Amino acid sequence: KIQGKHLFGHLIETLQSKNNEARKYFNPLRLEDPKYERLPFSIRVLLEAAIRKCDGFYVKQEDVQNILNWEERQNEAEVPFSPARVLLQDFTGIPAMVDLAAMRDAVAKNGVDPTLINPKCPTDLIVDHSLQIDFSKCAIQNAPNPGGGDVQGAGPRSGSARPSPRGPQLGTQCGSRHGSCAKGSCSDTPSGSGRPPAVQIENTPLLCPFHLQPVSEQDTALRNQEIELIRNKERLQFFKWCSKAFKNVSVVPPDIGSVHQVNLEYLSQVVQEGEGFIYPDSVVGTDSHTTMINGLGILGWGVGGIETEAVMLGQPVSLTLPQVVGCKLVGSISTLATSIDIVLCITKHLRQAGIGGKFVEFFGPGMSQLSAADRTTIANMCPEYNATISFFPVDDTTLKHFKQTNFTEERLELLEAYLKAVKLFRSYDDQAEDPQYSEVIEVNLSSIVPYVSGPKRPQDRVPVTCMKEDFLNCLNEKVGFKGFHIPSEKQDTVVPFLHEGTKYTLSHGSVVIAAVISCTNNCNPSVMLTAGLLAKKAVEAGLSVKPYIRTSLAPGSGMVTHYLNASGVLPYLSKLGFEVIGYGCATCVGNTAPLPQSVVDAIKQGDLVACGVLSGSRHFEGRLCDCVRANYLASPPLVVAYAIAGTIGIDFEKEPLGVGADGTELFLKDLWPSKEELHHVEENNVVASIFRELRSRMQKGSTFWNSMDAPDAVLFPWDPKSTYIRCPPFFNRLSKEVSGLGSIENAHALLFLGDKVTTDHISPAGSIARVSAAAKYLQSKRLTPREFNSYGARRGNDAVMTRGTFASIKLQNRLVGKTGPKTLHIPSGQMMDVFEAAERYQRDGVPLIILAGKEYGSGSSRDWAAKGPYLLGVRAVIAESFAKMHKNHLVSMGIAPLQFLPGQSADSLQLSGKERFSISMLEQVNTRQEITVLTSTGKSFSVVALFENKMDVTFYKHGGILKYVAHSMLQ
Ligand SMILES: *[C@@H]1O[C@H](CO)[C@@H](O)[C@H](O)[C@H]1NC(C)=O
Ligand SMILES: *[C@@H]1O[C@H](CO)[C@@H](O)[C@H](O)[C@H]1NC(C)=O
Ligand SMILES: *[C@@H]1O[C@H](CO)[C@@H](O)[C@H](O)[C@H]1NC(C)=O
Repeated sequence: KIQGKHLFGHLIETLQSKNNEARKYFNPLRLEDPKYERLPFSIRVLLEAAIRKCDGFYVKQEDVQNILNWEERQNEAEVPFSPARVLLQDFTGIPAMVDLAAMRDAVAKNGVDPTLINPKCPTDLIVDHSLQIDFSKCAIQNAPNPGGGDVQGAGPRSGSARPSPRGPQLGTQCGSRHGSCAKGSCSDTPSGSGRPPAVQIENTPLLCPFHLQPVSEQDTALRNQEIELIRNKERLQFFKWCSKAFKNVSVVPPDIGSVHQVNLEYLSQVVQEGEGFIYPDSVVGTDSHTTMINGLGILGWGVGGIETEAVMLGQPVSLTLPQVVGCKLVGSISTLATSIDIVLCITKHLRQAGIGGKFVEFFGPGMSQLSAADRTTIANMCPEYNATISFFPVDDTTLKHFKQTNFTEERLELLEAYLKAVKLFRSYDDQAEDPQYSEVIEVNLSSIVPYVSGPKRPQDRVPVTCMKEDFLNCLNEKVGFKGFHIPSEKQDTVVPFLHEGTKYTLSHGSVVIAAVISCTNNCNPSVMLTAGLLAKKAVEAGLSVKPYIRTSLAPGSGMVTHYLNASGVLPYLSKLGFEVIGYGCATCVGNTAPLPQSVVDAIKQGDLVACGVLSGSRHFEGRLCDCVRANYLASPPLVVAYAIAGTIGIDFEKEPLGVGADGTELFLKDLWPSKEELHHVEENNVVASIFRELRSRMQKGSTFWNSMDAPDAVLFPWDPKSTYIRCPPFFNRLSKEVSGLGSIENAHALLFLGDKVTTDHISPAGSIARVSAAAKYLQSKRLTPREFNSYGARRGNDAVMTRGTFASIKLQNRLVGKTGPKTLHIPSGQMMDVFEAAERYQRDGVPLIILAGKEYGSGSSRDWAAKGPYLLGVRAVIAESFAKMHKNHLVSMGIAPLQFLPGQSADSLQLSGKERFSISMLEQVNTRQEITVLTSTGKSFSVVALFENKMDVTFYKHGGILKYVAHSMLQ
């Protein structure tokens, strides 16, 4: 169908695969426009989608031209983005799916086959929000084997470099848990290694790696989880029905993984197939961390609920053609820098660059040093540096990654051939391929310096290269955070002692405790693997760790042990003394095994500043052990290195760690694994095993989900008793004829608002106040306040959401004069809840408008900020100006956004808000047309109808996009 009439049919080419399957695709190169090859890769993806989806309505030929002319049109033109798929979570997915189910009912009532109603864009719904394991949020964010997601949507990507996008939060939460563990000292601490791991490892709820959770508490957690499942059963059943009833909907059951993990490891295809074509994968999601996927060369970002729903109904997302900042990576990374150092450094550069609302695209010769995990981590941090996306075009590294997530050879060949044919495949080393960017920021990777912090506080950071000097300074300085005040004649003290029959010596700076801990940032597998590979090389070269040093290895979870083992490095760590001591609080809180008495005596005898090194997140003087005065935090591989060296006073560049079996001096650089070596081991052991794990969980599904019954009908059997899911009345009175909204006659103002009314004021959010219209409704359903749950959880119930609209206690309504969710019912002169007034007006057949000031609807995107007013009976909002996104939402819901003429306002026109308003001509309205408003007091003024194009006008005339789509089915 497409091919015959398609406006760009002449761009279609065919790709022959080895087994002779032919696949068609649109090749923008056939536009024969030299501009194409100068476009940033992310813009090329937008262009391909516009070409393929060009239908003259949603996507016009002019849009394709605008994207192609990106160099001139950036920051100006509004362009469409038609993603290949939609990613939903349960919370945000509910309203969209409920609307589709309601649409089925509506078309069926009009004698049309309801099975025609399906998302027009493949939609994956991942149920990860129902299960909030609230006993340890830190663990959920951190643990490499997640079973739940966090409410903000910062779900972890299993096994990848994943510092918290909200930074310090993580540390403090972990930290507060540390506080609850017993503080130990040299002499009174029970043996750490003797302590059994209280945390169960694989496939269980995740616990903060540093908190020894009593087993009974863990049971409670499991029980909570069950209760959660049962509490959510109604919604889960609805989702299960969705997955059976709709085409283009797939539901990932609870307990499989977080939305982003599933997206990265399971749903991402790089190249999609559909409607007889292959095309680049792309996605919009309802979560701001959807950006993570750009690390794998898949364009996508988070959008609001209404946009998502619109995409499911076939409409593209509209965006201002973005500027694209090229982030050029040059230089080579210091051997000592870990993945986390790299990610944090790049994030810092981007944050400083002020790239709000722009695309970032990476290029440059330094790219080959970033693994797929590094890239997704950088891309995931977009909300942190405020870029729309950070795009990493597909290259060999990306392909290698997908090989490990089990793409078949054939599929990989297809990917590569297709991406190369349309020039979406990148060879970062070839500068001739570099596109034109709006601006370029250069990050020199050689500037990345790894730090060690200490000797007493985590915030005292010292570049590794300056450690020796810094330590010597600390010996001199007067006692304080950076000083021990050791008299100069005593700084060279050397104390000999016997340990297990062998003579050793201790001096200032001697390492006596070395603990590799996988916590917070050090959860990153590449960091732990670096430590493992370093240990392997050290052991193979014949190096060892002096036996009096208390060494230990505390993996954050069983997964860490699993991949350390799978990659073969665990025995080498053990050989150096880094043996797994369990999965709980250990060294960080002083639960180290006591130091040998001879060591303690030697330290006391020489009044030595002995050292501890650990890869934890915090430390205090004397916390590790009373007699260890200097404590440093370092990355896991550096902990191993310092342990081998036996002293903190070493300059790694000039001094060897030790002498190998063959008598050669071995420097740190000789033992540090290369980036390539590391990436290889990581892809082969970590990525692959995490993927296998996810795949098998996907296949098994969860027992709860599989055994749960769900209706088998084409139409959803709404349960009138349900307080979570209701059929929303968007399609009431739907008929074949587009009745047209007609003019608005004698409308009352429901609200008379001032400037900057945000979506927070408009749409329901947070908890349901006990004295509110929504509470009254829920009480009438015999729910107690304890059972109210939040507005978020009740998004599938329009009755609650409509009652919660304008229920903000911060609402300032000039008809009332005091702050709160009340309004004046003008005909009766009574003050009441906004919902009650609206209900009365509706009963009396009185249409409603809202009067507002500047920037109406600013703030974050909220679907119910437009749906709510629509269901309250609001037909138009007259404001001095609108936030762009919210204005689009109003149009999508069939509410007219009308703007006072420049310089005019409700005040300048001396409106009281109590007059009645008649707005004619709306049925013939055109784009950006001036229309007249007449009031019952005889005034008349003009407003501009903010419909930007034919699509807006069409939606409005049909009463919003939902009705538009339903109508097109009826016809
Ligand atoms: C499913 O999505 C595809 C787009 O990939 C679309 O062409 C197709 O019409 C949709 N299927 C149905 C039944 O709507
Ligand atoms: C983020 O970028 C947007 C522009 O898209 C800007 O309005 C906003 O102020 C920026 N936020 C921060 C925190 O820089
Ligand atoms: C890939 O899939 C094959 C069979 O489909 C399976 O035998 C193999 O173990 C998988 N490999 C990985 C890395 O998941």
